[in-house]
Amino acid sequence: MCGIIGYCGPKNATKVIVQGLRRLEYRGYDSAGIAVGSNGSLKVIKSKGKIKDLHNKIPEDLESTYGIGHTRWATHGVVNDINAHPHVDCTGDLAVVHNGIIENFESLKNMLKAEGHTFHSETDSEVIVHLIEKYFKDDLEKAVKEALPLLKGTFGIVCVHAKEPGTIVGARNGSPLVMGIGLDEMFLASDVTAIIAHTKQAVYLEDGEIVVIKPDGFVTTDIDDRQVTKEIEQITWELQEIEKNGHPFFMEKEIIEQPESIRRAISGRIDKDQATAHLGGLNLSTKDLTNIERVKIIAAGTSYYASMVGAYLLEAIPRIPAIAELASEVRYRNPIIEKNTLYFAVTQSGETVDTLYAMKELKRKGATVLGICNVVGSSIARDSDGGVYIHSGPEIAVASTKAFTSQISVFYLFSLLLARMRDLSFSEGEKFIQDLQSIPFKVEKILDMRLKIKEMAKKYAHCSDFLFLGRGVNYPVALEGALKLKEISYIHAEGYSSAEIKHGPIALINEDTPSLFLVPDDDLRGKIISNIKEVKARKGKVIAICVEGDEEIKDIVDDIVEIPKTTELFYPFLMVIPLQLFAYYCALELGRDVDQPRNLAKSVTVE
Ligand code: G6P
Repeated sequence: MCGIIGYCGPKNATKVIVQGLRRLEYRGYDSAGIAVGSNGSLKVIKSKGKIKDLHNKIPEDLESTYGIGHTRWATHGVVNDINAHPHVDCTGDLAVVHNGIIENFESLKNMLKAEGHTFHSETDSEVIVHLIEKYFKDDLEKAVKEALPLLKGTFGIVCVHAKEPGTIVGARNGSPLVMGIGLDEMFLASDVTAIIAHTKQAVYLEDGEIVVIKPDGFVTTDIDDRQVTKEIEQITWELQEIEKNGHPFFMEKEIIEQPESIRRAISGRIDKDQATAHLGGLNLSTKDLTNIERVKIIAAGTSYYASMVGAYLLEAIPRIPAIAELASEVRYRNPIIEKNTLYFAVTQSGETVDTLYAMKELKRKGATVLGICNVVGSSIARDSDGGVYIHSGPEIAVASTKAFTSQISVFYLFSLLLARMRDLSFSEGEKFIQDLQSIPFKVEKILDMRLKIKEMAKKYAHCSDFLFLGRGVNYPVALEGALKLKEISYIHAEGYSSAEIKHGPIALINEDTPSLFLVPDDDLRGKIISNIKEVKARKGKVIAICVEGDEEIKDIVDDIVEIPKTTELFYPFLMVIPLQLFAYYCALELGRDVDQPRNLAKSVTVE
C-alpha cells in the first residue's frame, strides 16, 4: 500500500529519499511527500500526483542529512497536498509518515483537539503526530513509546524531530518495516526495493518493535523498553531486477520473464530418481504429508485465482479434497479447523492484510498454515508454519503476471509430491515432470506471437464489455483474464465458466460484447464449442485461445490465438499468457498507465 522511506547518513538525504520513493511508487501513487532536516528545522514538501510532481516542487539545492518520505494510497481523505504525508505537529518540528489504518482516530482527534492541537488534514494518520507531540519533552523515542499504546489499528510509522537531527524512530504493528544497514548510513523502509541501491543488509521488524536509527547504528526495543536482538539478513534481489531494462513498462518485462521465472520456481525441486518433487521449506514429515486429508487455500486477487488452479490440481492429481477461498471471507466466517487439514496462504507480496489476518485467525485456532510467497522476509513468509518461496524476482507492475505462473508451478510440484506418496506411479510421475519442464519452452513460443496478439487487441480495445469463458482447470484462468483486462484497461470484463453463460451472461451478448473462450483439446472441448455456437447465433464476436492445428475452431470464431499442445492439466500455464498480453496491449492501445492503473496498489495492507 503506502510506501515509506527514512534515511540518515552522509549522502544528500533529499536525493536518497526521492530515489527511494520512485522505487516504492508501485505501492501507492496518488500523492507523496518528504520531510528533511535542513539548517536546524524540518523542510516539508508534499504534492498530489506522482513522484515526478513532488520532485518538481523540491528545490535543487535542498541539502539534508536525514529525513523521511511517503508515497500514498488514499484511505481516509481525498487525494490532495494536505492529506499527503508527512504530517507535522503544531510546532512544525515533528513529522510522521504512516502506512496502515488508525481505527480509533476519531476519538483521539477529538481528545487532541480539546487539548488545543490543530489538525489540517482529513487523514487518520495525523492523530499519530499530535499524539507523539503530546508526549514529547526532549526524547522522540520515549514519546513514541508513550503514544503507541493509545493507537488501535495497523501501522508502520517512521518519524523525525528537528530537535534530534540525524535520528529516525520507526515502529511497526501490522504494516511492514525493514531497516537497511549501510556504511555510516541507515535506512528504514516499507520494503527492500527502496534500499537495495544502497545496501544488501536488512533487519525485518516484527509487530510491537520500535527501532531508533542513527548513521552509526540502531537499537531495537519492544514497547516496554526491553532490548530486542535482531538478526541481520542478506537481501537476495539485485538492483537490475527492479529496473525496466529497456521495456516500456514493468508489466511487459514481467510477462516476458515468465519462461525464466517458471524455471526458477521448479528448479532444484524435482527429484528425477524418485519421479517426485521435494519442497524443503514445508516443515512437514513424510508422515504429516501422508496424513493430509484435505487442503484449504486462502488468498486474494490474482493469487486467489492461482489458488483455485491449485485446488483443482490437488483434487485431480493426488485426489485430495481441496478448496480455495477468499482470505477476506475466511477471516470473518469463524472458520472451522478440521483434523488433518493443511492450509496454504498464497500471496505474492506476503503483506496482503486480508490474507495475513485470515492466516493469523486460522493459526490461532490451531491450524497449520504454509505460505506460498514471493517476497522473502515478508509478514506472511515469517508468520507461517513453513512454506515455499516462488522465487519470481521482484514483481513491480500492479497487475500480477509472473507471480501467477510461479504460484501455480508450486502447486504442480506439491500435487506431484503428494500424488507420488499415493497413487501416481513412477512412470506417471516421470511423464508429469517432463510436461512441467516443457512448459517454459511452450511459454516462449506463445511470447513469440505477441505481435499478433497486439494486432488483435487493437481491434477489440474499443469494446466496453468482455466475457472470458473457460472450464475445468482453465475456469480460474478465465477469471484471471477478466481481472487483468479490467485492472489495467478499465474495460468491464467478467469471467465465467462457459457452461454458465446460458444461466445469465448470454443476455449480454450482442455485436459489441466479445467473448474470449479458452478451448483446450480436453474432454470438455465439444461442450465449449457448443457454447461458442450459442454466442455466435446471437451475433456475438468470439476470440478463441485454442490448440495449434484446431481447424474446426478457425471456421467458427472471429479470431484465434493458437497455443502449443500440452497435457490436459497443464493448459493454465499456456492459456494465461495470451490473456496477460491481450490485457496489456488493450491497455496500451487505450493509453492507460499500465504499471500504475487508477485506484489500485500493488500490496494492499488495509482491509
Ligand atoms: C492487490 C494487487 C493484485 C494482487 C492482490 C493480492 O490487489 O493489485 O495484483 O493479486 O493484491 O496480492 P498478493 O500480494 O497477496 O498476491
